Amino acid sequence: MNVASHFRVFFTTCLAVFMVISCENPTNRTEIGRDNQPGTEQNAQINLKEIELIYRYKCSICHGKNGVSVIKGAPDLVTTEYTMEERVAIIMNGKGTMPPQKDVLDMPTIRGLAVYIDSLK
Ligand code: HEC
Repeated sequence: MNVASHFRVFFTTCLAVFMVISCENPTNRTEIGRDNQPGTEQNAQINLKEIELIYRYKCSICHGKNGVSVIKGAPDLVTTEYTMEERVAIIMNGKGTMPPQKDVLDMPTIRGLAVYIDSLK
């Protein structure tokens, strides 16, 4: 074999290896799929339907189902002027009589709630 055909063999082998590697099915994908349901820690995407249920369960007792306060002292969320980060901080740490959530809900959920508030407006 001459140098050119050595190179051809080497090149073809590399191509074959590359094709095998790129066809391999990666197991750590973060797309939503059968093995990565919304709500798992791995999934940073916000599922607003799921957040809505958490809001109804944990927040609507004071802030109302539609963000219009149902108890004295709790502000309407429909008219909140807090920024996203300020909301996240309030939800995490609580404020006044509002209970903190940082030991109860995970961060994607807390952020999800801060975003969900916009959909009430
Ligand atoms: C026990 C009643 C209660 C519950 C439950 C509650 N909150 Fe509150 N929330 C309050 C009160 C009271 C304030 C006002 C605190 C203050 O300003 O002193 C408040 C303030 C807020 C604010 C700031 C709004 C503004 O414009 O002043 C946000 C955002 C908020 N709550 C989100 C939530 C979310 C999300 C949940 C559910 C995880 C929740 N709250 C659960 C009582 C509650």
